[in-house]
This record gives sequence, structure tokens and C-alpha cells, in this order.
Amino acid sequence: MKKREKFGSRLGFILISAGCAIGLGNVWRFPYIAGQYGGAAFVLIYLLFLLILGLPIMVMEFAVGRASQQSAARSFHVLEPKGTKWHLYSYGAMLGNYMLMAFYTTVGGWMLSYFYKTARGEFSGLSPDQVGGVFSDMLGNPLYLIFWMCLTVLISFAVCSRGLKNGVEKVNKVMMLALLAIMIILVFRSVTLEGAGEGLTFYLKPDFSKLYEAEGGLFETIFAAMGQAFFTLSLGIGALAIFGSYIGKERSLTGEAISITILDTFVALMSGFIIFPAAAAFGVDAGQGPSLIFITLPNIFNQMAGGRLWGSLFFVFMSFAALSTIIAVFENIISFGMDLWGWSRKKTIVFNLIFILLISMPCILGFNVLSSISLPHIGDIQSIEDFIVSNNLLPLGSMVYLLFCTSRRGWGWKNFLQEADSGEGLKFPKWLRIYVSYILPAIVFFIFIMGYVLKFSA
Ligand code: ALA
Repeated sequence: MKKREKFGSRLGFILISAGCAIGLGNVWRFPYIAGQYGGAAFVLIYLLFLLILGLPIMVMEFAVGRASQQSAARSFHVLEPKGTKWHLYSYGAMLGNYMLMAFYTTVGGWMLSYFYKTARGEFSGLSPDQVGGVFSDMLGNPLYLIFWMCLTVLISFAVCSRGLKNGVEKVNKVMMLALLAIMIILVFRSVTLEGAGEGLTFYLKPDFSKLYEAEGGLFETIFAAMGQAFFTLSLGIGALAIFGSYIGKERSLTGEAISITILDTFVALMSGFIIFPAAAAFGVDAGQGPSLIFITLPNIFNQMAGGRLWGSLFFVFMSFAALSTIIAVFENIISFGMDLWGWSRKKTIVFNLIFILLISMPCILGFNVLSSISLPHIGDIQSIEDFIVSNNLLPLGSMVYLLFCTSRRGWGWKNFLQEADSGEGLKFPKWLRIYVSYILPAIVFFIFIMGYVLKFSA
């Protein structure tokens, strides 16, 4: 059998896993969802979910990847007991990765194009309405969207084509370090704006009555916090599992998962520190949904001294976050072909390049040519794809990983623990067995069902 590629360093592993986790979920989705569901109280629930749900599942994904030395396309086949059907979930995992990219590449393209527009000063002197018009004009122009989506996809596959160590690891490392540096500069700029205090209060001082304000009440808020915890860590579709297959047994997995979760959470929280104080300082509502950073922020930058520079930096930050995730998920997608059919990296890239471009089209056309397509309670094509991934494949897939690693009819607790604890570093707490085997799957399932009921009965 061909020897599996390995990362060059531990830092490379941590930063690329963090890069896979850190993405639009942190810098775009988190601030607007936190804004919509009431700020600080929502953030607390979200943090709780990261701890009680995200962390253990991440350790499980890494363990499955490292023990099987395969991507999600093959890992269940290798580890499952003979005669069982866990491997059927490999289709769910692959679908999840592709479906995530089907809308993510488009939003990644928005980020690149907004960087370009801001750097060229295209927003300078526009009125708030005109800035809003730039966003809606962009959505209405399929060729423009296709151009930026293609560019995003091409850049990301170009990085992957240079191989795991020389492409994916090297580029992601540089991007993540640059992202952290830019982020700290932007946080400093935002919190020192005059009038930032009100935004900080909204973000930091919990007002629990706000949790009940959603249409579906408290449960809708909890469901949103859980969905966000899954989304931000890319859990349940094996997106992280693969990076376990690229490392050796020197370090135990719990400590590594903690470092990655801390990095991811840090970036999400800092994005809030950039956006909420700035929104408050310029008197805009932070709860206005997905368009928050595309309409509100360019307006804010317009009013700021040196806004063109700050705006450009902000969209570089956004673009790096998006690209780091796209590159990491592409690495998964490429490994599916290599693991399943023994294809070369090059051949899998050519196949997937065409395939990803095709599956990204419905999302783009959903904003213009196919804008009449919309599902009640969900929305346009992008929202439908996001719903399938975030509210279905991620939680249900996470349950598969949980049950696989804890059930005797799956890979089992003993095997999981042995793999997770191999190497130096923090061990997975044994006393959590009952919790992760029964209570955690029950929590995920309960909130999943309630979320559905409330969403569709609201
Ligand atoms: N985890 C990825 C993100 O947060 C999907 O964007």
C-alpha cells in the first residue's frame, strides 16, 4: 500500500485543523447569529455547547482518522466490526463536504470581491443606500458571482495541487498566522472607536430575556447555538477526521482538540469584538442577518478615518478565513478520490475542480435566475444548502461518530480510548463514558427534533 502523506510539524497539524474550523462560520455567521439571537446570553450557550459537545466529538473524529489512516470515505470500512453497516455513513460524510462547498465557495468569492472593491476605493463617497445597492447588484449578476467563485476555487485547488506538506500545510500556516495578526489590529481599532461601549455591553453583558425573543422561543435559540457549534468546528462530516490520518502517535488527541477549539473560539469571539463595537459606534443594528458584513461594515468603514485601509484589512481577514476552510475541505475531497479509487492527487483535483464548479452553480443562480426557488421556513437555495448541512448532516453525522466510538457494535469505547490516549499529553477523561455514550447523543437528538418542530411550526 502507498505510504500516507504526513504533516511536517505539529504546529502544521494544529493550524490546518484550526484553519478548517476557522472560517466564515467564525467571522461571518457567528457575529450575525449572535446579533440576531440577542448577544451575550447566546454567546454563553454557544460556548457551553463547544465544551460539552464540540470537544468530545472532535477527539472522536481525530481518533477515527488516525486509527484508520483514511479519510471519511474509507475510515468506517476499516474500523467497523465485520458485517456491520457503519460504512454507509461514508456517503453522508462525503455529501456533507461537497454540500458545504456548494455554497461556501460562493461566499468565499464575495469576500475576495469585497476585498478588491474596498482596496480600489469603490465604496468611497457612496451613501448607505448605494452601499446596499452594491451588494444587491452583485447578487443579481450571475456572471460576476461565477467569476469570483471560480477564482476562489482555482486558488484553493492550486494550493492543494502542491501537495499536503508543501501546499496545504505551508499556505495555511502563513494564512492563519496573518489572520491572527490582522484580527488583533482590527479589534484594537474597533474597541477604541468613540461610542464602542454600547456594542461591548450588548456583546458581553448577558440579558437572558433576549433568549426568548426568537419566533420559536428559547428552543430556537438553543438550536441555533448548537448548529453554530457544529458548523464552526466542521464536525460530523469527517472534515477534521482526515487530519488525524496525517499525524503520528506522538501526541494524545484530547490536548490537540483543546488547542484547536480554543483557537477557533478565540477567532469567533474576536470577530464579535470587531463588529459589535463598530456597529454601535456608528449607530447600526447588529441583528440584521447575513448581509451584516456586506452592507453594514462597508458603511462603517466609509465613515471612519482611514476606512479604505481598515476595510481592506478586514476583507483580507475574511478572505483568509474562508480560503483556509475551503483548502482544508478540498483536501478532504481530494483524499476521497485517492482513498476510494487509488487515483493520483492530480487526477482527483481535475475531476473535483470541474465537479465543484458545477455544484456551486445552484447557489449562485438562486440569487438571480432561480430566485423564485424558495422553501417555506428555510429560504433560497443557499439557505436550503446551509440548512441541509448545518441542521442535519452535522448533528446527525456527529451522532454517528459518537455512537461508533462508544458502542460495542461499532468501533467501541476501548479502541477509541486507546487511540485517543496514544501519545503524550492530556488523556480523554474515562469518567465521561456514560455521558458521551448516552447523555450526549440524547442531547443532540432532542435538540435536533425540537429544532425541527419549532422551525416548521413557527
Ligand atoms: N468550520 C467552518 C467555518 O466555521 C465550516 O466556517
